Amino acid sequence: MCSVVGYIGKNYSRAFVMEGLARLEYRGYDSAGFACLSPESHRLLYAKAEGRLSNLAKKFEQTPIDGHLGIGHTRWSTHGVSSENNAHPHFDCEKRISVVHNGIIENHHELKSKLQAGDHVFYSDTDTEIVAHLFESLLLTHQTFKGAIVDLVSQLEGAYAFLVLMQDFPDQMLLVRKRSPLCIGIGDDEMFLGSDLLGFAGRTDKVLFLPDESFAIVTRDTIQLYDFKGASLPLNVQTVDVRWMDFEKQGHEHYMLKEILEQKRAIHDTVGFLHGASGQIWDLLGVSSDFIKQLHKINLMGCGTSWHAARIAQFFFEEICLMPARVHLASEFRFMPFFTETNTWYIAISQSGETADTLEALRMINSMKLPTATLTNVASSTMVREAGGFLLTQAGPEVAVASTKAFSTQLTALYWLAHRIALEKGIISESDLGRAEEDLLVVAEVLENTIENYKFDIANKWAKQYAHYKRAIFLGRHTSYPFAMESALKLKEIAYIFSQCYPAGELKHGPLALVDAETPIFLFSHQDELIYQKLLSNAQEVKARGGHLIIFAFDGQTELIELANLVFVIPRVKPLLGPLAMTGLMQFFVYSIAKELGCAIDKPRNLAKSVTVE
Ligand code: F6R
Repeated sequence: MCSVVGYIGKNYSRAFVMEGLARLEYRGYDSAGFACLSPESHRLLYAKAEGRLSNLAKKFEQTPIDGHLGIGHTRWSTHGVSSENNAHPHFDCEKRISVVHNGIIENHHELKSKLQAGDHVFYSDTDTEIVAHLFESLLLTHQTFKGAIVDLVSQLEGAYAFLVLMQDFPDQMLLVRKRSPLCIGIGDDEMFLGSDLLGFAGRTDKVLFLPDESFAIVTRDTIQLYDFKGASLPLNVQTVDVRWMDFEKQGHEHYMLKEILEQKRAIHDTVGFLHGASGQIWDLLGVSSDFIKQLHKINLMGCGTSWHAARIAQFFFEEICLMPARVHLASEFRFMPFFTETNTWYIAISQSGETADTLEALRMINSMKLPTATLTNVASSTMVREAGGFLLTQAGPEVAVASTKAFSTQLTALYWLAHRIALEKGIISESDLGRAEEDLLVVAEVLENTIENYKFDIANKWAKQYAHYKRAIFLGRHTSYPFAMESALKLKEIAYIFSQCYPAGELKHGPLALVDAETPIFLFSHQDELIYQKLLSNAQEVKARGGHLIIFAFDGQTELIELANLVFVIPRVKPLLGPLAMTGLMQFFVYSIAKELGCAIDKPRNLAKSVTVE
């Protein structure tokens, strides 16, 4: 997604802005740009480039522009193709106002027509450019700077976070936020601005997160914060610890590999954290013990991998807490009929805590004054600030676009939470909760050992063999069905191999027609005897039609193992934790195929890490 970074202060801005953009680079983008206020000519100077940040850096070799106020942007196209022209910053007619923006101005067509009728000339196809032109015209008609901003935000619809650098206001910058995140790092005679504090991690630990629907006028040593009506807001400056070191590859070829291999540690940390937080867990989650005791239903919301974690966790809540759980795809949620129920709880699951669809679903529930919480990996995220309570997975920063350790720690936290709720309701005992924690630690061990056992053969033999296939089918049942969905997603997104997933029981209702020797079928087993027997029949159906089976089986599932063309055998764990045990191996296999194919593993084409647009 788009990232914005800015600087105002005693130093020159370009190096900082470029470093900040590089840190956020992993989130994906297709063009980049920088603008600064020249200390010599007092004019706005800028450079833009299509593609990687290094293309922008090359431009500075010929034109080394710089200044004490600077803004930068990496763009992930939504309106208008990826091109130098559409790259930010965008300007007003006179090039006295420059804007970098993350989000979408939904009414830009209407505003653009009005501005064009008033003789404004546009140079790009973006929605962002209208902000510069509209602000240009409002500054002419309003007596005060603040008045022009209040009018500006009253006319913009959508979600946006933007930085504005203006030639006529050489000592200040404007920041505006609605729904998209924006924060200010406060330094010594300098301010660091960004859509994410990672952009300035290590520079300062004093951070002001702009509240939703607010704007800030910032100089090198002051911040004035206002709501959208122009009323002053207090500055709630927080001390935040972000270690940049966690964002380095530490010798691994890809972030994804590093993150796959960190999962045992991440699960241990998550269990350790939850164990320690158990006594205050309802406070953290913004609910009371009585509320949990009365709880009749749990609703989980998320997108992509987080939605898959929720689909698996549905079984945790239903089988451990003995109550219904419903899983909502956040991107669909707001458009479905909604029935208010009492004694229900809504939990938004999101690695980033910023996914626009999940955030909007959360906001919808918040607006109905129903209890919400979020399970996320990012303490400084918008969801943490907006949900009624929160629980943090302890995965550490996940940089690769494809989610790996975030997924396994989500499963860990949700399994633990199901037990903690069951304890509160008197369904299980304290020692059962302790055993669940031990089971999670055992699975962490299994996850790591299975990668270790198979990694040589996968890397040297099987990745090569399976990289040639153009498509694949994924099958599972019960918890292994959503896990198969997650596996299919991984293969699609990082290896670009078309992957279709079905509940194995659906095979004979249509997909069996697709079975041939050119379409490998990944089948994920289950330890429950009845489910296993059903999966075995499905595998036999495939085999009888000349299908090619890649099976993830559990120890002792001999009949299934014998049917496989390729088999991975996983030690038995608590049955509900089967998917977590298979996670590392599946991810490593898919990673190795993508590597064999020479794919851009950490930044797959067209994708971004933090999907902050709907
Ligand atoms: C896939 C992946 C995505 C995300 C999805 C939601 O590997 O990472 O499907 O899971 O975009 O993101 P979060 O969890 O940040 O809300």
